[in-house]
Amino acid sequence: MQIPTLTTDRLILRGYREDDAPAIAALHGDPEVIRYISPDGVPEPSLADAWDHIARHVGHWALKGYGKWAVDERATGRFVGRAGLYDPPYDWVGLELGWTFARDVWGRGYATEAGAAAMRWAFETLGANEVVSAIHPGNAASIRVAERLGERKWRDGTLNGKPALIYGITKDEWRARNART
Ligand SMILES: CC(C)(COP(=O)(O)OP(=O)(O)OC[C@H]1O[C@@H](n2cnc3c(N)ncnc32)[C@H](O)[C@@H]1OP(=O)(O)O)[C@@H](O)C(=O)NCCC(=O)NCCS
Repeated sequence: MQIPTLTTDRLILRGYREDDAPAIAALHGDPEVIRYISPDGVPEPSLADAWDHIARHVGHWALKGYGKWAVDERATGRFVGRAGLYDPPYDWVGLELGWTFARDVWGRGYATEAGAAAMRWAFETLGANEVVSAIHPGNAASIRVAERLGERKWRDGTLNGKPALIYGITKDEWRARNART
C-alpha cells in the first residue's frame, strides 16, 4: 500500500524503507533510547533486527491501513526517529500513538511535532475515536510529550510485562482542544 507522507514545519513523516536499517540499528543500539521501550532493556544494534523492525511496521500498514512513520529532519534530510500508530490484535493496549527519536535531537520538540501530526491524521483521516499512549512511569519526557499533545492519564496498565501508564485522548477532546488553538 501507499503509506501517506505528512509534512510539518521541521519534519517529514514517511513510510519506512529498507535503507533505514542502519539508522534504526543505531537508534536501537543506544541504551538511553531503548531504556523504557525494550521489553528486556538490552540494546539491539544489529541490521538484521532493524530490518525485522522495518518489515513489521511496513506489514502493519499493509494489514491495517495505518502504522508508524519514519521521521526525517527537513533541514538535513536525515532520519531522526519515528512516530505513529501501532495496534496489533493480540496483547495490546489499543490504538497506540508512540514516538522515539535519536538522542542527539531530543529536546527540540520533534516528538511533540511529529506526534501532533500523527494524532491529527489518526482523528481526521483514519477516523479513530481515541488514541492511547502506553508509557513507562519513569519516562518523564514521554509523559510530557503526551501531556503536550492533550493526552491525560486514563489508567495504570502493563505493556510487555512492565508497568505502564495508559495516557489517552478522545476525538471529541482533540477537536475541542484544536478549536481553542
Ligand atoms: C520521549 C522522547 C521521544 C521525547 O522526544 P523529544 O523530541 O525530546 O520530545 P520534545 O522535545 O517534543 O518534548 C520533550 C518534553 O519533555 C521534557 N523533558 C525532557 N526530558 C525530561 C525529563 N527528564 N523530565 C521531565 N521532562 C522532560 C522537555 O522539557 C519537553 O517538554 P517541554 O516542551 O514542556 O519543555 C525521547 O526522549 C525519546 O526518544 N526517548 C526514547 C524512546 C522513548 O522512550 N519513547 C517513548 C515511548 S512511550
